[in-house]
Amino acid sequence: MGLFNKKVEADAEGFFPTTAVSDITDGQITAVTLNGTKIILLRWQEQIHAVSSKCPHAAADMSKGEFYRGKLECPDHGYVFDIKTGRTLWPEDEMVCLKRYPVKVVDGIVMVRL
Ligand code: FES
Repeated sequence: MGLFNKKVEADAEGFFPTTAVSDITDGQITAVTLNGTKIILLRWQEQIHAVSSKCPHAAADMSKGEFYRGKLECPDHGYVFDIKTGRTLWPEDEMVCLKRYPVKVVDGIVMVRL
C-alpha cells in the first residue's frame, strides 16, 4: 500500500498506479487518494472496479458505506449502486450514477485512469 496518497505519474495511456491487486480483498472497500482524487477500489467476481468515493446524490463519502454482492450502499441515505455500471439500484426511480474509472492490472499493480 506504499503508493497510497502519493503524487504519481501516469503511464502513456493515462493510467496511474494505485496498489497491489493482492491488497484488494473480496467484500472490502479500499480507499485510495490519487493525485488529490479519492477513489474506491473493489473486487467483485474476480474483477477490480474503481469508483468515485463521492456519492452522486449528496456527496457523502462512499468509502464509509457497505459493499456486498457487487453493490455499494451509501452511508448517508442508503442509495445502492451497481459497481459494474454505476447505476442506481435503489431507489429504483433515481437517475444519478456513481462515477466509474477505467482499470487495468500491470505486473500485479492496479492501474486507474482518472
Ligand atoms: S448522499 Fe449518498 S444517498 Fe444521499
